[in-house]
Amino acid sequence: MKFNTKAVSSVLAAATLLSLLCSCEPEIPFSTDSVTQVTAPEITAPEITAPETLPGIDTGDVTTERETDTVTEDETTAPPQTTVTETDPETEPAKDPDAPEFKVDLSAYEKYMDPEDRDGYIILVNPSNPVGKDYKPTDLEPLVDTRPDRSKRYLRLYAAKSLEAFLKEARANGCKDVTVTSAYRSYDSQKEIFDGDVKRLMEKGYSEEEAIAIERKDTAYPGESEHQTGLAVDMHNLGAASQKFADTFEAKWLAENCWKFGFILRYMPDKEDITTYVYEPWHFRYVGRYHAKRIYDMHMCLEEYIEYLANN
Ligand code: DAL
Ligand code: ZN
Repeated sequence: MKFNTKAVSSVLAAATLLSLLCSCEPEIPFSTDSVTQVTAPEITAPEITAPETLPGIDTGDVTTERETDTVTEDETTAPPQTTVTETDPETEPAKDPDAPEFKVDLSAYEKYMDPEDRDGYIILVNPSNPVGKDYKPTDLEPLVDTRPDRSKRYLRLYAAKSLEAFLKEARANGCKDVTVTSAYRSYDSQKEIFDGDVKRLMEKGYSEEEAIAIERKDTAYPGESEHQTGLAVDMHNLGAASQKFADTFEAKWLAENCWKFGFILRYMPDKEDITTYVYEPWHFRYVGRYHAKRIYDMHMCLEEYIEYLANN
């Protein structure tokens, strides 16, 4: 699939200029030379990629934190610095009267699940759209549902709050022991995971080329993982991420209900040819409810949806 990057680049440049001139614009949280962010047809002022010097960008050292689905290690990484003051969800009023019905009162989370900056999270990171090595979001927040035996995991503020609501409602609906095993990952931690797995495959007898090809079906090459965006989360209730999770009540509930909280199941079983990754029933991606519902209803992966937006 081809995305018209030249056309988008022109829009990006115009949108970036517009954003710089408009002080009322919300913080543009992303800075990469190749992140693809697309505006829905109804929106007139696209908020797309910004240069690395805009507010909200941290191009300094990246905190190292590894996914621990398959790796046992000492997770004592210091938490990344955050610059966003968290709004107390307990005091926030509900925004959308048409919001889905929940068993738990999640009205305080509405502003996060259905963000005002509706298009701000339509960001594509994949092998064709890598992020820069130094890219790191500045609004990372610690997650409350990190697996207890692991160090804290982090997502960007809106994703973190929405995930909190997601898992509250999941528990109220009978999901047991679903916890976060991985969330934001720096370029360096992604590289550590990738290289470690390739090494293990080579120890099993695969050539380096074969090992990399195998690994790339499961794990993104450094710079190509949307975990680096702070908008992707792995969660399940197994000892390690496994396709077996797909057969559980929990996986089915999460997949069917994720859109209500602004998440999509990112790597679906029938989209492997497009995403290039195997089915990951544990990997969810925050995009905000408006887009998540449309993506869910149309049964598209993010690559298809972004192409759909570009063509409509
Ligand atoms: N497992 C997904 C593709 C990642 O590494 O980002
Ligand atoms: Zn993942």
